[in-house]
Amino acid sequence: MSFSFTRSDFPADFLFGAATAAYQIEGHAFGGAGASHWDSYAATPGNVTNADDGAVACDHYHRFEQDLDLVQQGGFDVYRFSVSWARIMPDGRHVNPEGLAFYDRLVDAIVARGLKPYLTLYHWDLPSALADTGGWTNPETADLFAAYTRAVIERIGDRVEAVATINEPWCVAWLSHFIGAQAPGLRDIRAATRAMHHVMLAHGKSLAVMREMGQQNLGIVLNLADPHPASGSTADIAATRRMDGISNRWFLDALFKGAYPEDILDALRPHMPAGLEDEMALISAPIDWLGINYYTRGIVADAPGTPWPQFDGVEGPLPKTDMGWEIYPEGLGTLLARVARDYTGDLPLYVTENGMAGDDHLVDGVCDDPVRLKYFDDHLQVVRGLIAEGVPVKGYFAWSLLDNYEWSFGYEKRFGLVHVDYETQTRTPKRSFEAFRAALNAAPRRLAASG
Ligand code: FCB
Repeated sequence: MSFSFTRSDFPADFLFGAATAAYQIEGHAFGGAGASHWDSYAATPGNVTNADDGAVACDHYHRFEQDLDLVQQGGFDVYRFSVSWARIMPDGRHVNPEGLAFYDRLVDAIVARGLKPYLTLYHWDLPSALADTGGWTNPETADLFAAYTRAVIERIGDRVEAVATINEPWCVAWLSHFIGAQAPGLRDIRAATRAMHHVMLAHGKSLAVMREMGQQNLGIVLNLADPHPASGSTADIAATRRMDGISNRWFLDALFKGAYPEDILDALRPHMPAGLEDEMALISAPIDWLGINYYTRGIVADAPGTPWPQFDGVEGPLPKTDMGWEIYPEGLGTLLARVARDYTGDLPLYVTENGMAGDDHLVDGVCDDPVRLKYFDDHLQVVRGLIAEGVPVKGYFAWSLLDNYEWSFGYEKRFGLVHVDYETQTRTPKRSFEAFRAALNAAPRRLAASG
Protein backbone atom coordinates (compact mmCIF):
# COMPACT_ATOMS: atom_id res chain seq x y z
CA MET A 1 0.00 0.00 0.00
CA SER A 2 1.20 3.48 -0.72
CA PHE A 3 0.02 7.04 -0.31
CA SER A 4 -2.22 8.65 -2.89
CA PHE A 5 0.22 11.58 -3.20
CA THR A 6 3.89 12.24 -3.69
CA ARG A 7 5.92 15.23 -2.69
CA SER A 8 5.25 16.97 -6.00
CA ASP A 9 1.53 17.20 -5.17
CA PHE A 10 2.48 19.79 -2.55
CA PRO A 11 4.06 23.21 -3.04
CA ALA A 12 7.82 23.06 -3.54
CA ASP A 13 8.52 24.74 -0.18
CA PHE A 14 6.08 22.56 1.81
CA LEU A 15 7.90 20.84 4.68
CA PHE A 16 7.35 17.24 5.74
CA GLY A 17 8.60 16.32 9.17
CA ALA A 18 8.71 13.69 11.86
CA ALA A 19 8.23 14.72 15.48
CA THR A 20 9.33 13.48 18.90
CA ALA A 21 9.68 14.85 22.43
CA ALA A 22 12.60 14.50 24.85
CA TYR A 23 11.04 12.67 27.81
CA GLN A 24 9.20 10.27 25.54
CA ILE A 25 12.31 8.91 23.83
CA GLU A 26 15.65 9.92 25.35
CA GLY A 27 15.99 7.98 28.57
CA HIS A 28 15.91 10.37 31.49
CA ALA A 29 18.25 8.25 33.63
CA PHE A 30 21.21 9.21 31.45
CA GLY A 31 23.46 12.26 31.19
CA GLY A 32 22.93 13.86 34.59
CA ALA A 33 19.30 14.87 34.03
CA GLY A 34 17.49 16.03 37.15
CA ALA A 35 14.20 14.56 38.33
CA SER A 36 11.18 15.83 36.43
CA HIS A 37 7.60 15.96 37.64
CA TRP A 38 6.87 13.10 35.25
CA ASP A 39 9.18 10.84 37.29
CA SER A 40 7.20 11.42 40.47
CA TYR A 41 3.83 11.37 38.70
CA ALA A 42 4.75 7.98 37.21
CA ALA A 43 5.96 6.70 40.58
CA THR A 44 2.60 7.46 42.15
CA PRO A 45 0.41 4.36 41.84
CA GLY A 46 -2.59 4.67 39.56
CA ASN A 47 -1.32 7.49 37.35
CA VAL A 48 0.46 5.66 34.53
CA THR A 49 -0.21 2.28 32.94
CA ASN A 50 2.20 -0.23 34.52
CA ALA A 51 3.76 2.73 36.40
CA ASP A 52 6.04 3.09 33.36
CA ASP A 53 8.39 6.06 33.37
CA GLY A 54 10.86 7.68 30.99
CA ALA A 55 14.04 6.38 32.66
CA VAL A 56 15.13 4.43 29.57
CA ALA A 57 12.37 5.03 27.02
CA CYS A 58 13.81 4.47 23.51
CA ASP A 59 17.40 5.00 24.71
CA HIS A 60 17.56 7.76 22.12
CA TYR A 61 20.22 9.44 24.29
CA HIS A 62 22.63 6.76 23.07
CA ARG A 63 21.00 5.94 19.72
CA PHE A 64 20.18 9.33 18.26
CA GLU A 65 22.50 8.92 15.26
CA GLN A 66 20.64 5.80 14.17
CA ASP A 67 17.27 7.47 14.81
CA LEU A 68 18.21 10.51 12.75
CA ASP A 69 19.33 8.21 9.93
CA LEU A 70 15.73 7.00 9.86
CA VAL A 71 14.35 10.55 9.57
CA GLN A 72 16.68 11.12 6.66
CA GLN A 73 15.85 7.81 4.99
CA GLY A 74 12.14 8.57 5.31
CA GLY A 75 12.70 11.57 3.05
CA PHE A 76 11.61 14.10 5.67
CA ASP A 77 12.76 17.73 5.58
CA VAL A 78 12.27 18.56 9.24
CA TYR A 79 13.00 16.89 12.55
CA ARG A 80 10.81 18.36 15.29
CA PHE A 81 12.29 17.58 18.71
CA SER A 82 12.27 19.04 22.19
CA VAL A 83 14.94 19.72 24.76
CA SER A 84 14.40 18.76 28.38
CA TRP A 85 14.46 21.50 30.98
CA ALA A 86 15.28 18.94 33.71
CA ARG A 87 18.20 17.58 31.67
CA ILE A 88 19.63 21.01 30.90
CA MET A 89 18.94 22.45 34.36
CA PRO A 90 18.48 19.63 36.88
CA ASP A 91 17.37 22.09 39.58
CA GLY A 92 15.54 24.34 37.11
CA ARG A 93 18.10 27.11 37.55
CA HIS A 94 21.69 25.98 36.93
CA VAL A 95 23.08 24.45 33.77
CA ASN A 96 24.21 20.83 33.62
CA PRO A 97 26.98 21.06 30.97
CA GLU A 98 26.44 17.42 29.98
CA GLY A 99 22.81 18.22 29.16
CA LEU A 100 23.59 21.11 26.86
CA ALA A 101 26.43 19.15 25.29
CA PHE A 102 23.99 16.38 24.38
CA TYR A 103 21.72 18.78 22.49
CA ASP A 104 24.72 20.38 20.84
CA ARG A 105 25.69 16.97 19.42
CA LEU A 106 22.07 16.23 18.52
CA VAL A 107 21.60 19.44 16.55
CA ASP A 108 24.90 18.91 14.74
CA ALA A 109 23.74 15.43 13.81
CA ILE A 110 20.39 16.75 12.53
CA VAL A 111 22.06 19.39 10.38
CA ALA A 112 24.68 16.91 9.14
CA ARG A 113 21.86 14.87 7.58
CA GLY A 114 20.46 17.85 5.72
CA LEU A 115 17.46 18.05 8.04
CA LYS A 116 15.99 21.25 9.48
CA PRO A 117 15.93 21.25 13.30
CA TYR A 118 12.58 22.48 14.67
CA LEU A 119 13.12 22.97 18.37
CA THR A 120 10.47 22.89 21.11
CA LEU A 121 11.67 24.38 24.40
CA TYR A 122 9.02 22.85 26.68
CA HIS A 123 7.40 19.51 25.99
CA TRP A 124 6.46 18.87 29.61
CA ASP A 125 9.69 17.97 31.45
CA LEU A 126 9.40 20.39 34.36
CA PRO A 127 12.28 19.96 36.85
CA SER A 128 10.96 18.54 40.14
CA ALA A 129 12.77 21.31 42.01
CA LEU A 130 10.40 23.77 40.34
CA ALA A 131 7.38 21.55 40.99
CA ASP A 132 8.41 21.87 44.65
CA THR A 133 8.04 25.64 44.46
CA GLY A 134 4.62 25.42 42.82
CA GLY A 135 5.52 24.70 39.19
CA TRP A 136 3.15 26.42 36.78
CA THR A 137 1.07 27.82 39.63
CA ASN A 138 4.03 30.07 40.54
CA PRO A 139 4.75 33.08 38.28
CA GLU A 140 8.46 32.67 39.03
CA THR A 141 8.40 29.59 36.79
CA ALA A 142 7.77 31.91 33.82
CA ASP A 143 10.88 33.95 34.69
CA LEU A 144 12.96 30.82 35.11
CA PHE A 145 11.66 29.57 31.76
CA ALA A 146 12.95 32.75 30.16
CA ALA A 147 16.39 32.18 31.73
CA TYR A 148 16.34 28.57 30.51
CA THR A 149 15.40 29.79 27.03
CA ARG A 150 18.47 32.02 27.01
CA ALA A 151 20.78 29.16 28.00
CA VAL A 152 19.38 26.88 25.27
CA ILE A 153 19.43 29.49 22.52
CA GLU A 154 22.94 30.63 23.40
CA ARG A 155 24.13 27.08 22.83
CA ILE A 156 22.10 25.77 19.86
CA GLY A 157 20.14 28.76 18.52
CA ASP A 158 22.66 29.29 15.72
CA ARG A 159 21.67 25.99 14.07
CA VAL A 160 17.93 25.62 14.66
CA GLU A 161 15.53 26.67 11.91
CA ALA A 162 12.52 27.39 14.09
CA VAL A 163 11.67 27.48 17.78
CA ALA A 164 8.41 26.77 19.59
CA THR A 165 8.22 27.99 23.16
CA ILE A 166 5.59 25.64 24.62
CA ASN A 167 4.00 22.44 23.39
CA GLU A 168 0.25 22.34 24.06
CA PRO A 169 -0.38 24.85 26.85
CA TRP A 170 -3.88 23.38 27.39
CA CYS A 171 -2.28 20.07 28.39
CA VAL A 172 0.36 21.84 30.49
CA ALA A 173 -2.33 23.75 32.39
CA TRP A 174 -5.90 22.40 32.24
CA LEU A 175 -5.32 18.70 31.59
CA SER A 176 -2.60 18.56 34.25
CA HIS A 177 -4.04 20.82 36.97
CA PHE A 178 -7.82 20.58 36.57
CA ILE A 179 -8.49 17.19 35.01
CA GLY A 180 -5.41 15.68 36.69
CA ALA A 181 -4.60 13.36 33.79
CA GLN A 182 -0.96 14.39 33.42
CA ALA A 183 1.84 15.55 35.72
CA PRO A 184 1.53 17.03 38.28
CA GLY A 185 -1.90 15.37 38.41
CA LEU A 186 -3.71 18.09 40.32
CA ARG A 187 -7.46 18.61 40.34
CA ASP A 188 -7.71 22.13 41.59
CA ILE A 189 -9.41 25.07 39.91
CA ARG A 190 -7.12 27.66 41.44
CA ALA A 191 -3.96 25.80 40.43
CA ALA A 192 -5.41 25.23 36.95
CA THR A 193 -6.37 28.85 36.47
CA ARG A 194 -2.97 30.09 37.51
CA ALA A 195 -1.26 27.56 35.27
CA MET A 196 -3.51 28.69 32.37
CA HIS A 197 -2.04 32.17 32.71
CA HIS A 198 1.52 31.43 33.77
CA VAL A 199 2.15 29.06 30.88
CA MET A 200 1.17 31.84 28.48
CA LEU A 201 3.29 34.29 30.45
CA ALA A 202 6.22 31.89 30.10
CA HIS A 203 5.61 31.87 26.34
CA GLY A 204 5.65 35.68 26.26
CA LYS A 205 8.80 36.00 28.34
CA SER A 206 10.63 33.32 26.39
CA LEU A 207 9.64 34.97 23.11
CA ALA A 208 10.91 38.36 24.35
CA VAL A 209 14.28 36.85 25.26
CA MET A 210 14.63 35.24 21.85
CA ARG A 211 13.65 38.45 20.04
CA GLU A 212 16.28 40.31 22.03
CA MET A 213 18.84 37.67 21.05
CA GLY A 214 17.88 38.00 17.37
CA GLN A 215 16.60 34.42 17.10
CA GLN A 216 14.42 33.90 14.00
CA ASN A 217 11.26 31.99 13.19
CA LEU A 218 9.52 31.78 16.56
CA GLY A 219 6.17 30.23 17.37
CA ILE A 220 4.12 28.15 19.75
CA VAL A 221 2.31 24.81 19.38
CA LEU A 222 -1.36 24.51 20.39
CA ASN A 223 -3.46 21.38 20.54
CA LEU A 224 -6.80 22.60 19.35
CA ALA A 225 -10.01 20.70 19.77
CA ASP A 226 -12.76 20.42 17.20
CA PRO A 227 -15.73 20.18 19.58
CA HIS A 228 -19.16 18.96 18.46
CA PRO A 229 -22.26 18.98 20.67
CA ALA A 230 -23.52 15.53 21.71
CA SER A 231 -27.08 16.62 20.95
CA GLY A 232 -29.04 19.63 19.77
CA SER A 233 -29.98 20.53 23.34
CA THR A 234 -29.30 24.06 24.52
CA ALA A 235 -27.25 22.66 27.40
CA ASP A 236 -24.98 20.58 25.17
CA ILE A 237 -24.52 23.45 22.72
CA ALA A 238 -23.56 25.75 25.60
CA ALA A 239 -21.16 23.11 26.95
CA THR A 240 -19.55 22.86 23.51
CA ARG A 241 -19.04 26.61 23.47
CA ARG A 242 -17.35 26.41 26.88
CA MET A 243 -15.16 23.55 25.73
CA ASP A 244 -14.17 25.63 22.73
CA GLY A 245 -13.43 28.50 25.11
CA ILE A 246 -11.22 26.59 27.50
CA SER A 247 -9.33 24.61 24.88
CA ASN A 248 -9.18 26.90 21.84
CA ARG A 249 -10.22 30.51 22.38
CA TRP A 250 -8.30 30.91 25.66
CA PHE A 251 -5.01 30.49 23.80
CA LEU A 252 -5.92 31.93 20.40
CA ASP A 253 -7.53 35.06 21.85
CA ALA A 254 -4.58 35.61 24.18
CA LEU A 255 -2.02 35.24 21.40
CA PHE A 256 -3.82 37.08 18.62
CA LYS A 257 -6.24 39.46 20.36
CA GLY A 258 -4.29 40.22 23.53
CA ALA A 259 -7.17 39.29 25.87
CA TYR A 260 -8.64 36.09 27.26
CA PRO A 261 -12.23 35.38 26.15
CA GLU A 262 -14.73 37.09 28.45
CA ASP A 263 -17.02 34.09 28.93
CA ILE A 264 -14.23 31.88 30.24
CA LEU A 265 -12.53 34.67 32.13
CA ASP A 266 -15.78 35.36 33.97
CA ALA A 267 -15.90 31.76 35.15
CA LEU A 268 -12.25 31.70 36.18
CA ARG A 269 -11.92 35.22 37.57
CA PRO A 270 -12.24 34.35 41.29
CA HIS A 271 -9.14 32.20 40.92
CA MET A 272 -7.08 34.36 38.56
CA PRO A 273 -3.85 36.06 39.58
CA ALA A 274 -4.18 39.83 39.95
CA GLY A 275 -2.83 42.21 37.34
CA LEU A 276 -2.90 39.81 34.43
CA GLU A 277 -4.15 42.54 32.04
CA ASP A 278 -0.72 44.16 32.28
CA GLU A 279 0.87 40.96 30.98
CA MET A 280 -1.30 40.51 27.90
CA ALA A 281 0.86 42.71 25.66
CA LEU A 282 3.82 40.43 26.29
CA ILE A 283 1.72 37.32 25.66
CA SER A 284 0.32 38.67 22.38
CA ALA A 285 3.64 39.88 20.93
CA PRO A 286 3.75 38.82 17.25
CA ILE A 287 4.95 35.33 16.40
CA ASP A 288 6.25 34.09 13.06
CA TRP A 289 4.26 30.86 12.78
CA LEU A 290 1.67 28.83 14.64
CA GLY A 291 1.84 25.07 15.13
CA ILE A 292 -1.32 23.04 15.57
CA ASN A 293 -1.46 19.47 16.85
CA TYR A 294 -4.54 17.60 15.72
CA TYR A 295 -5.65 14.04 16.44
CA THR A 296 -9.43 13.77 16.72
CA ARG A 297 -12.67 15.59 17.36
CA GLY A 298 -14.47 15.84 20.69
CA ILE A 299 -18.15 15.20 21.31
CA VAL A 300 -19.23 17.38 24.17
CA ALA A 301 -22.06 16.95 26.65
CA ASP A 302 -23.19 19.19 29.46
CA ALA A 303 -22.17 18.08 32.95
CA PRO A 304 -25.10 19.20 35.07
CA GLY A 305 -24.16 21.01 38.24
CA THR A 306 -20.73 22.17 37.08
CA PRO A 307 -19.80 25.09 34.87
CA TRP A 308 -17.41 22.82 32.94
CA PRO A 309 -18.26 20.28 30.28
CA GLN A 310 -17.72 16.58 30.91
CA PHE A 311 -14.10 15.89 30.11
CA ASP A 312 -14.45 12.40 28.73
CA GLY A 313 -17.17 13.54 26.42
CA VAL A 314 -19.39 11.12 24.66
CA GLU A 315 -18.34 8.14 22.59
CA GLY A 316 -18.73 8.94 18.92
CA PRO A 317 -19.83 6.59 16.13
CA LEU A 318 -16.72 6.77 13.93
CA PRO A 319 -13.91 4.20 13.71
CA LYS A 320 -11.41 4.72 16.54
CA THR A 321 -7.69 4.45 17.06
CA ASP A 322 -6.07 2.42 19.83
CA MET A 323 -6.51 5.48 22.08
CA GLY A 324 -10.26 5.27 21.51
CA TRP A 325 -10.04 8.52 19.54
CA GLU A 326 -12.38 8.88 16.57
CA ILE A 327 -10.70 9.17 13.19
CA TYR A 328 -12.01 12.43 11.78
CA PRO A 329 -9.75 14.06 9.18
CA GLU A 330 -12.37 16.70 8.34
CA GLY A 331 -11.79 18.25 11.76
CA LEU A 332 -8.28 19.24 10.75
CA GLY A 333 -9.71 21.15 7.82
CA THR A 334 -12.39 22.88 9.87
CA LEU A 335 -9.91 23.93 12.54
CA LEU A 336 -7.14 25.24 10.33
CA ALA A 337 -9.56 27.14 8.11
CA ARG A 338 -11.17 28.69 11.19
CA VAL A 339 -7.84 29.66 12.77
CA ALA A 340 -6.66 31.33 9.56
CA ARG A 341 -9.99 33.10 9.04
CA ASP A 342 -10.56 34.29 12.60
CA TYR A 343 -7.06 34.75 13.94
CA THR A 344 -3.94 34.32 11.87
CA GLY A 345 -4.60 35.46 8.28
CA ASP A 346 -1.37 35.03 6.31
CA LEU A 347 0.68 33.71 9.22
CA PRO A 348 2.28 30.36 8.30
CA LEU A 349 0.53 27.41 9.94
CA TYR A 350 2.13 24.03 10.54
CA VAL A 351 0.51 20.77 11.48
CA THR A 352 3.15 20.07 14.13
CA GLU A 353 1.63 16.72 15.18
CA ASN A 354 -0.81 14.31 13.61
CA GLY A 355 -0.89 10.54 13.85
CA MET A 356 -2.49 7.61 15.62
CA ALA A 357 -1.88 4.80 18.07
CA GLY A 358 -2.39 1.33 16.65
CA ASP A 359 -2.31 -2.17 18.02
CA ASP A 360 0.90 -2.81 16.10
CA HIS A 361 2.78 -6.09 16.00
CA LEU A 362 5.85 -7.41 14.26
CA VAL A 363 5.02 -10.47 12.20
CA ASP A 364 8.00 -12.11 10.51
CA GLY A 365 9.91 -8.88 10.95
CA VAL A 366 7.21 -6.74 9.30
CA CYS A 367 4.91 -4.24 10.97
CA ASP A 368 1.91 -3.73 8.75
CA ASP A 369 -0.17 -0.72 9.83
CA PRO A 370 -2.71 -0.06 7.07
CA VAL A 371 -5.05 1.95 9.30
CA ARG A 372 -2.27 4.39 10.20
CA LEU A 373 -1.17 4.61 6.57
CA LYS A 374 -4.69 5.59 5.56
CA TYR A 375 -4.96 7.97 8.53
CA PHE A 376 -1.92 9.88 7.30
CA ASP A 377 -3.11 9.78 3.71
CA ASP A 378 -6.57 11.12 4.58
CA HIS A 379 -5.22 13.93 6.77
CA LEU A 380 -2.72 14.92 4.11
CA GLN A 381 -5.55 15.05 1.58
CA VAL A 382 -7.27 17.52 3.88
CA VAL A 383 -4.06 19.57 4.02
CA ARG A 384 -3.92 19.61 0.21
CA GLY A 385 -7.50 20.85 0.14
CA LEU A 386 -6.65 23.64 2.59
CA ILE A 387 -3.68 24.73 0.51
CA ALA A 388 -5.89 24.80 -2.58
CA GLU A 389 -8.31 27.07 -0.71
CA GLY A 390 -5.46 29.43 0.13
CA VAL A 391 -4.99 28.53 3.81
CA PRO A 392 -1.25 29.03 4.41
CA VAL A 393 -0.34 25.55 5.70
CA LYS A 394 3.40 25.31 5.25
CA GLY A 395 4.24 21.94 6.70
CA TYR A 396 3.02 18.66 8.18
CA PHE A 397 4.91 16.69 10.83
CA ALA A 398 3.93 13.13 11.63
CA TRP A 399 3.65 12.08 15.26
CA SER A 400 5.79 10.18 15.92
CA LEU A 401 9.10 8.97 14.53
CA LEU A 402 9.27 6.14 17.08
CA ASP A 403 6.92 4.21 19.32
CA ASN A 404 7.58 5.90 22.64
CA TYR A 405 6.48 6.75 26.18
CA GLU A 406 2.89 7.84 25.71
CA TRP A 407 2.64 9.71 29.02
CA SER A 408 -0.12 8.30 31.24
CA PHE A 409 -0.49 5.35 28.87
CA GLY A 410 3.13 4.30 29.31
CA TYR A 411 4.62 2.15 26.56
CA GLU A 412 1.33 0.47 25.75
CA LYS A 413 0.21 2.90 23.06
CA ARG A 414 2.23 2.85 19.85
CA PHE A 415 2.24 6.02 17.74
CA GLY A 416 5.48 5.39 15.83
CA LEU A 417 6.30 5.32 12.16
CA VAL A 418 8.99 3.00 13.42
CA HIS A 419 8.28 0.08 15.73
CA VAL A 420 10.42 -0.16 18.88
CA ASP A 421 11.05 -3.43 20.69
CA TYR A 422 11.70 -2.10 24.20
CA GLU A 423 13.52 -5.30 25.29
CA THR A 424 16.17 -5.06 22.61
CA GLN A 425 15.72 -1.44 21.46
CA THR A 426 15.42 -2.75 17.90
CA ARG A 427 13.86 -0.28 15.46
CA THR A 428 11.72 -1.63 12.60
CA PRO A 429 10.17 0.82 10.15
CA LYS A 430 6.44 0.17 9.77
CA ARG A 431 4.67 0.10 6.41
CA SER A 432 3.47 3.69 7.01
CA PHE A 433 7.11 4.75 7.25
CA GLU A 434 7.80 3.00 3.95
CA ALA A 435 4.88 4.90 2.42
CA PHE A 436 6.45 8.20 3.46
CA ARG A 437 9.80 7.03 2.19
CA ALA A 438 8.29 6.24 -1.22
CA ALA A 439 6.17 9.41 -1.47
CA LEU A 440 8.81 11.82 -0.26
CA ASN A 441 11.73 10.38 -2.17
CA ALA A 442 9.71 10.02 -5.38
CA ALA A 443 11.24 11.73 -8.38
CA PRO A 444 9.35 14.94 -9.22
CA ARG A 445 6.72 14.38 -11.83
CA ARG A 446 7.68 15.81 -15.20
CA LEU A 447 5.58 18.67 -16.38
CA ALA A 448 3.75 17.81 -19.57
CA ALA A 449 5.46 19.50 -22.47
CA SER A 450 3.42 22.45 -23.64
CA GLY A 451 2.95 24.01 -27.04
C1 FCB B 1 0.18 15.12 22.14
C2 FCB B 1 1.55 15.27 22.72
C3 FCB B 1 2.54 14.22 22.27
C4 FCB B 1 1.91 12.87 22.15
C5 FCB B 1 0.63 12.93 21.36
C6 FCB B 1 -0.05 11.61 21.14
O1 FCB B 1 -0.75 15.70 22.98
O2 FCB B 1 2.10 16.53 22.37
O3 FCB B 1 3.63 14.25 23.15
O4 FCB B 1 1.73 12.32 23.39
O5 FCB B 1 -0.27 13.81 21.97
